[in-house]
Amino acid sequence: MNPEDVKKVGVVGCGIMGSGIVEVCAKAGVAVAYVEVDDERVGRGRQAIERSLARAVEKGKLDEAGRDEALARISGSSDLGDLADVDLVIEAVTEDLATKKDVFHSLEEITKPEVLLATNTSTLPIAELAASTNRPDKVLGLHFFNPASIMKLLEVIRGLSTSDETIQFARTFGERIGKTTVLAKDRAGFIVNFLLIPFLNSAVQMLDDGVATKEDIDAGVQLGLGHPMGPLTLLDLIGLDTAVHASNVLYEEFKDPMYSPPTLLKRMVAAGYLGRKSGKGFYDYSS
Ligand code: 3HC
Repeated sequence: MNPEDVKKVGVVGCGIMGSGIVEVCAKAGVAVAYVEVDDERVGRGRQAIERSLARAVEKGKLDEAGRDEALARISGSSDLGDLADVDLVIEAVTEDLATKKDVFHSLEEITKPEVLLATNTSTLPIAELAASTNRPDKVLGLHFFNPASIMKLLEVIRGLSTSDETIQFARTFGERIGKTTVLAKDRAGFIVNFLLIPFLNSAVQMLDDGVATKEDIDAGVQLGLGHPMGPLTLLDLIGLDTAVHASNVLYEEFKDPMYSPPTLLKRMVAAGYLGRKSGKGFYDYSS
């Protein structure tokens, strides 16, 4: 099959990243079936997609007909068996290797044998996921950035056993859904998080050390470096728990203290301050 012939994509997990991936594919004209663990989460995923599509219409990025067509291409369920007829799978479940392995194990039984199995992991080893399936040459990383509906980048990750055909297929498909692809090898953090995580950790340590206020750290980076958001605002967007997890995985891999999550970040997660998704992080979102 050619990437142009992909008619239907399966997305496993419809949280922050999964819902964005569903939206991107549907807007590009591809049918999408997504799967969540229960009906309540299926509904929440659908609401997140509807909200983002409504915002795209408000911002003039999509007309109402385009929104309705995209929504009509999307179906959600709590049964992985509904992915039996898809041409490509992108998994975006929680960042836990054992959970992802379980999902991949089920997918290899449910999907057609030629179907590529991609993971949206930001840090976990593709080689290990691939080795847990019967088609390691067809397993790869497709790492989207938050918010997936807006960010242009797609990191394509080659595991040790991923074939050249798989990589070429994925890059062409990525372009078809409007992303610019970059290729990285299977090492924790790939390109972007390898650079981003120590930067974010330094900003948190700087705040904890009292060097500057959170507002001034963010303004310094926005206005002095031209970033669209300061690091503490960005952490609230990514989710502090996600950032701690990514940090821990990088630290495990490289044992360099700059990857170790700073104490303040760990304490905030322990207190339930996870960023936008919990209503409070470095900033307050409760209103
Ligand atoms: N659909 C389509 N387009 C939309 C949209 C939507 N739902 N919402 C907004 N837009 C468009 C706007 O029209 C605007 O387009 P323009 O530049 O052509 O005018 C653009 O997106 C920016 O919109 P806004 O000015 O309204 O800004 P927002 O506050 O909505 O969003 C942002 C801004 C895109 C989040 C921007 O602040 C940004 O780029 N921040 C940095 C995000 C980032 O770094 N993400 C990566 C995180 S790391 C990661 O994901 C890796 C993980 O593994 C940890």
